[in-house]
Amino acid sequence: MLSKTILLLAAVTSTVVAGPCRPRPTPTLPITGGASEVPAPDAGLVLKKIALGHGIQNYTCTSTATGASASANGALAALYDITSLYPGTSKTALANITAFNGLSTTVLWSQDLPLNLSVTGAANPGTPAVPNTLAESSYGADIAHPFPAAIADLNLGSLNLPFVGVHYFDSAGTPTFDLTQKAGLLASLKKTDNVKAPTGADAGILKTGAVDWLRLVDNGKGVSKGLSAVFRVVTAGGSAEPCSLSGAGSGSVPYTAQYWFYGA
Ligand SMILES: *[C@@H]1O[C@H](CO)[C@@H](O)[C@H](O)[C@H]1NC(C)=O
Ligand SMILES: *[C@@H]1O[C@H](CO)[C@@H](O)[C@H](O)[C@H]1NC(C)=O
Ligand SMILES: *[C@@H]1O[C@H](CO)[C@@H](O)[C@H](O)[C@H]1NC(C)=O
Repeated sequence: MLSKTILLLAAVTSTVVAGPCRPRPTPTLPITGGASEVPAPDAGLVLKKIALGHGIQNYTCTSTATGASASANGALAALYDITSLYPGTSKTALANITAFNGLSTTVLWSQDLPLNLSVTGAANPGTPAVPNTLAESSYGADIAHPFPAAIADLNLGSLNLPFVGVHYFDSAGTPTFDLTQKAGLLASLKKTDNVKAPTGADAGILKTGAVDWLRLVDNGKGVSKGLSAVFRVVTAGGSAEPCSLSGAGSGSVPYTAQYWFYGA
Protein backbone atom coordinates (compact mmCIF):
# COMPACT_ATOMS: atom_id res chain seq x y z
CA MET A 1 0.00 0.00 0.00
CA LEU A 2 2.74 2.37 1.03
CA SER A 3 4.80 1.68 -2.12
CA LYS A 4 1.76 2.25 -4.34
CA THR A 5 1.17 5.61 -2.69
CA ILE A 6 4.76 6.63 -3.23
CA LEU A 7 4.65 5.57 -6.88
CA LEU A 8 1.47 7.54 -7.43
CA LEU A 9 2.98 10.61 -5.81
CA ALA A 10 6.07 10.25 -7.95
CA ALA A 11 3.95 10.07 -11.10
CA VAL A 12 1.94 13.14 -10.13
CA THR A 13 5.08 15.08 -9.27
CA SER A 14 6.80 14.32 -12.57
CA THR A 15 3.67 15.36 -14.52
CA VAL A 16 3.57 18.66 -12.70
CA VAL A 17 7.25 19.33 -13.33
CA ALA A 18 7.36 18.19 -16.97
CA GLY A 19 4.02 19.67 -18.03
CA PRO A 20 4.81 23.36 -18.50
CA CYS A 21 8.25 22.78 -20.03
CA ARG A 22 7.19 20.64 -22.97
CA PRO A 23 4.34 22.00 -25.08
CA ARG A 24 2.77 19.21 -27.12
CA PRO A 25 3.46 19.56 -30.84
CA THR A 26 0.65 19.43 -33.37
CA PRO A 27 1.32 16.50 -35.70
CA THR A 28 2.44 17.68 -39.14
CA LEU A 29 1.12 15.87 -42.21
CA PRO A 30 4.16 14.27 -43.92
CA ILE A 31 5.30 15.45 -47.35
CA THR A 32 7.08 13.35 -49.96
CA GLY A 33 9.78 15.94 -50.62
CA GLY A 34 9.27 15.36 -54.35
CA ALA A 35 8.53 17.80 -57.17
CA SER A 36 4.89 18.18 -56.12
CA GLU A 37 2.75 17.39 -53.09
CA VAL A 38 -0.95 16.79 -52.58
CA PRO A 39 -2.73 19.97 -51.40
CA ALA A 40 -2.68 20.60 -47.65
CA PRO A 41 -5.85 20.06 -45.59
CA ASP A 42 -8.38 22.88 -46.06
CA ALA A 43 -8.24 25.70 -43.53
CA GLY A 44 -10.55 25.03 -40.60
CA LEU A 45 -10.13 21.27 -40.65
CA VAL A 46 -8.63 19.62 -37.61
CA LEU A 47 -6.77 16.34 -37.32
CA LYS A 48 -9.13 13.76 -35.76
CA LYS A 49 -6.98 10.65 -35.93
CA ILE A 50 -3.93 8.99 -37.46
CA ALA A 51 -4.25 5.30 -38.29
CA LEU A 52 -2.00 2.68 -39.76
CA GLY A 53 -3.77 0.67 -42.45
CA HIS A 54 -2.71 -2.92 -43.22
CA GLY A 55 -4.34 -4.85 -46.02
CA ILE A 56 -4.43 -5.35 -49.77
CA GLN A 57 -4.76 -3.23 -52.89
CA ASN A 58 -6.83 -4.97 -55.59
CA TYR A 59 -6.10 -4.93 -59.29
CA THR A 60 -7.57 -6.33 -62.48
CA CYS A 61 -5.69 -7.34 -65.62
CA THR A 62 -7.52 -7.83 -68.89
CA SER A 63 -4.45 -8.47 -71.05
CA THR A 64 -1.25 -10.32 -70.28
CA ALA A 65 0.69 -8.69 -73.11
CA THR A 66 4.12 -7.33 -72.26
CA GLY A 67 3.69 -3.78 -70.97
CA ALA A 68 0.00 -4.19 -70.09
CA SER A 69 -0.68 -2.62 -66.71
CA ALA A 70 -3.27 -3.53 -64.12
CA SER A 71 -6.17 -1.24 -63.30
CA ALA A 72 -6.88 -0.46 -59.65
CA ASN A 73 -9.95 -2.15 -58.25
CA GLY A 74 -10.37 -1.20 -54.62
CA ALA A 75 -8.68 -2.04 -51.38
CA LEU A 76 -9.30 -3.70 -48.04
CA ALA A 77 -7.48 -2.83 -44.84
CA ALA A 78 -7.76 -2.93 -41.08
CA LEU A 79 -6.98 0.38 -39.37
CA TYR A 80 -4.99 0.73 -36.15
CA ASP A 81 -4.90 3.91 -34.07
CA ILE A 82 -1.38 5.39 -33.94
CA THR A 83 -2.39 8.96 -32.99
CA SER A 84 -0.86 8.78 -29.51
CA LEU A 85 2.39 7.33 -30.89
CA TYR A 86 3.19 10.57 -32.78
CA PRO A 87 6.43 11.90 -31.27
CA GLY A 88 5.97 14.36 -28.44
CA THR A 89 2.21 14.04 -28.12
CA SER A 90 1.87 11.57 -25.27
CA LYS A 91 3.78 9.63 -22.65
CA THR A 92 3.65 6.54 -24.87
CA ALA A 93 4.71 8.36 -28.06
CA LEU A 94 7.63 7.12 -30.16
CA ALA A 95 10.99 8.83 -29.86
CA ASN A 96 11.12 10.45 -33.29
CA ILE A 97 9.49 10.69 -36.74
CA THR A 98 11.82 8.04 -38.16
CA ALA A 99 10.49 5.54 -35.65
CA PHE A 100 6.89 6.68 -36.24
CA ASN A 101 7.12 6.39 -40.03
CA GLY A 102 8.94 3.08 -39.66
CA LEU A 103 5.69 1.50 -38.43
CA SER A 104 4.57 1.03 -42.07
CA THR A 105 7.51 -1.26 -42.83
CA THR A 106 7.46 -3.02 -39.44
CA VAL A 107 3.80 -3.95 -39.73
CA LEU A 108 3.92 -4.89 -43.42
CA TRP A 109 6.77 -7.34 -42.94
CA SER A 110 6.03 -8.72 -39.47
CA GLN A 111 2.26 -9.05 -39.26
CA ASP A 112 -0.18 -11.44 -40.90
CA LEU A 113 -2.78 -9.77 -43.09
CA PRO A 114 -5.80 -9.05 -40.88
CA LEU A 115 -8.16 -10.47 -43.52
CA ASN A 116 -9.95 -13.70 -44.29
CA LEU A 117 -7.65 -14.82 -47.10
CA SER A 118 -9.14 -16.92 -49.89
CA VAL A 119 -5.97 -19.04 -50.12
CA THR A 120 -5.97 -20.06 -46.47
CA GLY A 121 -2.60 -20.38 -44.88
CA ALA A 122 -0.81 -19.36 -48.03
CA ALA A 123 0.19 -15.82 -48.08
CA ASN A 124 0.56 -14.20 -44.73
CA PRO A 125 3.76 -12.14 -44.82
CA GLY A 126 3.94 -12.33 -41.03
CA THR A 127 4.21 -16.11 -41.14
CA PRO A 128 7.98 -16.65 -41.18
CA ALA A 129 7.80 -20.11 -42.75
CA VAL A 130 6.21 -18.75 -45.92
CA PRO A 131 8.67 -17.31 -48.42
CA ASN A 132 7.67 -13.89 -49.71
CA THR A 133 7.79 -14.99 -53.31
CA LEU A 134 4.12 -15.60 -53.94
CA ALA A 135 2.10 -14.07 -56.75
CA GLU A 136 -0.65 -11.48 -56.38
CA SER A 137 -3.22 -14.24 -56.66
CA SER A 138 -2.16 -15.66 -53.28
CA TYR A 139 -3.16 -12.57 -51.34
CA GLY A 140 -6.87 -12.32 -52.21
CA ALA A 141 -9.44 -12.05 -49.46
CA ASP A 142 -12.71 -13.95 -49.16
CA ILE A 143 -15.23 -12.14 -51.38
CA ALA A 144 -18.26 -12.55 -49.12
CA HIS A 145 -16.51 -12.02 -45.76
CA PRO A 146 -13.17 -10.27 -46.28
CA PHE A 147 -12.87 -9.15 -42.65
CA PRO A 148 -12.67 -11.57 -39.72
CA ALA A 149 -15.54 -11.25 -37.24
CA ALA A 150 -13.18 -9.67 -34.72
CA ILE A 151 -9.92 -7.92 -35.55
CA ALA A 152 -7.44 -7.85 -32.68
CA ASP A 153 -5.30 -4.92 -31.64
CA LEU A 154 -1.78 -5.12 -33.06
CA ASN A 155 0.82 -6.00 -30.52
CA LEU A 156 4.35 -5.04 -31.53
CA GLY A 157 6.26 -6.02 -28.43
CA SER A 158 6.22 -2.91 -26.26
CA LEU A 159 3.77 -1.11 -28.57
CA ASN A 160 0.02 -1.63 -28.69
CA LEU A 161 -1.84 -0.40 -31.78
CA PRO A 162 -5.58 -0.49 -31.03
CA PHE A 163 -7.86 -1.66 -33.84
CA VAL A 164 -10.01 1.34 -34.78
CA GLY A 165 -11.92 0.44 -37.97
CA VAL A 166 -11.78 -0.80 -41.54
CA HIS A 167 -11.16 0.58 -45.02
CA TYR A 168 -12.98 -0.84 -48.04
CA PHE A 169 -14.63 0.16 -51.30
CA ASP A 170 -18.42 -0.13 -51.20
CA SER A 171 -20.49 -1.82 -53.93
CA ALA A 172 -20.48 1.45 -55.91
CA GLY A 173 -16.66 1.57 -55.78
CA THR A 174 -16.62 4.36 -53.19
CA PRO A 175 -13.55 4.47 -50.92
CA THR A 176 -14.90 4.18 -47.38
CA PHE A 177 -13.33 4.33 -43.93
CA ASP A 178 -15.57 3.02 -41.18
CA LEU A 179 -14.39 3.94 -37.68
CA THR A 180 -17.96 4.14 -36.39
CA GLN A 181 -17.76 1.57 -33.62
CA LYS A 182 -14.49 2.64 -32.04
CA ALA A 183 -14.38 6.36 -32.81
CA GLY A 184 -17.78 7.46 -34.17
CA LEU A 185 -16.16 8.50 -37.45
CA LEU A 186 -17.03 7.53 -41.03
CA ALA A 187 -15.65 8.79 -44.34
CA SER A 188 -17.20 8.24 -47.77
CA LEU A 189 -14.81 9.82 -50.21
CA LYS A 190 -13.57 10.60 -53.69
CA LYS A 191 -9.91 10.77 -54.64
CA THR A 192 -8.82 14.27 -55.66
CA ASP A 193 -5.02 14.17 -55.75
CA ASN A 194 -2.14 11.71 -55.91
CA VAL A 195 1.65 11.93 -55.96
CA LYS A 196 4.36 9.29 -56.22
CA ALA A 197 5.70 7.87 -52.96
CA PRO A 198 9.24 9.10 -52.20
CA THR A 199 12.19 7.36 -53.81
CA GLY A 200 13.38 4.77 -51.34
CA ALA A 201 9.89 4.00 -49.98
CA ASP A 202 9.40 0.35 -48.99
CA ALA A 203 8.62 -1.53 -52.24
CA GLY A 204 6.72 -4.18 -50.31
CA ILE A 205 6.38 -7.95 -50.12
CA LEU A 206 6.15 -8.40 -53.91
CA LYS A 207 8.79 -5.70 -54.55
CA THR A 208 6.32 -3.85 -56.76
CA GLY A 209 6.75 -0.43 -55.18
CA ALA A 210 4.88 1.75 -52.71
CA VAL A 211 1.48 3.07 -53.78
CA ASP A 212 0.95 6.79 -54.33
CA TRP A 213 0.25 9.23 -51.54
CA LEU A 214 -3.32 10.54 -51.82
CA ARG A 215 -5.75 13.20 -50.79
CA LEU A 216 -9.38 12.08 -50.67
CA VAL A 217 -12.30 14.35 -49.78
CA ASP A 218 -15.94 13.85 -48.83
CA ASN A 219 -17.99 12.86 -51.88
CA GLY A 220 -21.10 14.82 -50.94
CA LYS A 221 -23.31 11.74 -50.56
CA GLY A 222 -24.12 12.70 -46.97
CA VAL A 223 -22.71 9.45 -45.60
CA SER A 224 -19.59 10.74 -43.80
CA LYS A 225 -19.68 11.38 -40.05
CA GLY A 226 -17.19 13.75 -38.45
CA LEU A 227 -14.71 13.47 -41.33
CA SER A 228 -14.28 15.45 -44.53
CA ALA A 229 -10.79 14.58 -45.81
CA VAL A 230 -8.39 11.65 -45.55
CA PHE A 231 -4.72 11.61 -46.59
CA ARG A 232 -2.83 8.41 -47.42
CA VAL A 233 0.90 8.88 -46.72
CA VAL A 234 4.04 6.90 -45.80
CA THR A 235 2.92 3.97 -47.96
CA ALA A 236 4.73 0.63 -48.17
CA GLY A 237 4.08 -1.86 -50.96
CA GLY A 238 0.69 -2.18 -52.66
CA SER A 239 1.60 -1.41 -56.30
CA ALA A 240 0.53 -3.93 -58.95
CA GLU A 241 2.69 -6.46 -60.70
CA PRO A 242 2.85 -6.11 -64.47
CA CYS A 243 -0.04 -8.07 -66.03
CA SER A 244 2.46 -10.22 -67.91
CA LEU A 245 3.58 -11.51 -64.50
CA SER A 246 0.32 -11.62 -62.51
CA GLY A 247 -1.82 -13.03 -65.33
CA ALA A 248 -5.35 -12.04 -66.32
CA GLY A 249 -8.06 -11.55 -63.70
CA SER A 250 -7.87 -9.96 -60.27
CA GLY A 251 -4.94 -9.83 -57.94
CA SER A 252 -4.21 -8.36 -54.53
CA VAL A 253 -0.98 -6.81 -53.23
CA PRO A 254 -0.24 -6.39 -49.50
CA TYR A 255 0.37 -2.84 -48.31
CA THR A 256 0.50 -0.56 -45.31
CA ALA A 257 0.01 3.20 -45.10
CA GLN A 258 -0.62 5.98 -42.64
CA TYR A 259 -4.08 7.49 -42.94
CA TRP A 260 -4.58 11.00 -41.55
CA PHE A 261 -8.24 11.79 -40.83
CA TYR A 262 -9.47 15.39 -40.84
CA GLY A 263 -12.85 16.90 -39.97
CA ALA A 264 -14.39 20.24 -39.11
C1 LIG B 1 14.88 7.51 -33.29
O1 LIG B 1 14.58 6.81 -32.13
C2 LIG B 1 15.13 5.51 -32.07
C3 LIG B 1 14.63 4.87 -30.80
O2 LIG B 1 13.27 4.61 -30.89
C4 LIG B 1 16.64 5.57 -32.11
O3 LIG B 1 17.16 4.27 -32.11
C5 LIG B 1 17.08 6.30 -33.37
O4 LIG B 1 18.45 6.47 -33.37
C6 LIG B 1 16.38 7.64 -33.48
N1 LIG B 1 16.68 8.19 -34.80
C7 LIG B 1 16.90 9.47 -35.01
C8 LIG B 1 17.11 9.86 -36.43
O5 LIG B 1 16.92 10.28 -34.12
C1 LIG C 1 -10.51 -7.30 -53.47
O1 LIG C 1 -10.33 -8.60 -53.95
C2 LIG C 1 -10.75 -9.59 -53.05
C3 LIG C 1 -10.44 -10.90 -53.68
O2 LIG C 1 -9.07 -10.97 -53.81
C4 LIG C 1 -12.22 -9.46 -52.75
O3 LIG C 1 -12.56 -10.30 -51.71
C5 LIG C 1 -12.55 -8.05 -52.34
O4 LIG C 1 -13.93 -7.88 -52.25
C6 LIG C 1 -11.98 -7.07 -53.31
N1 LIG C 1 -12.21 -5.75 -52.77
C7 LIG C 1 -12.47 -4.74 -53.54
C8 LIG C 1 -12.68 -3.48 -52.83
O5 LIG C 1 -12.51 -4.81 -54.74
C1 LIG D 1 -14.40 -14.67 -42.22
O1 LIG D 1 -15.09 -13.73 -41.41
C2 LIG D 1 -16.39 -14.04 -41.07
C3 LIG D 1 -16.96 -12.87 -40.32
O2 LIG D 1 -16.93 -11.73 -41.10
C4 LIG D 1 -16.43 -15.31 -40.31
O3 LIG D 1 -17.74 -15.61 -39.94
C5 LIG D 1 -15.84 -16.43 -41.13
O4 LIG D 1 -15.76 -17.58 -40.40
C6 LIG D 1 -14.46 -16.06 -41.63
N1 LIG D 1 -14.03 -17.02 -42.63
C7 LIG D 1 -12.85 -17.57 -42.62
C8 LIG D 1 -12.54 -18.48 -43.76
O5 LIG D 1 -12.03 -17.35 -41.78
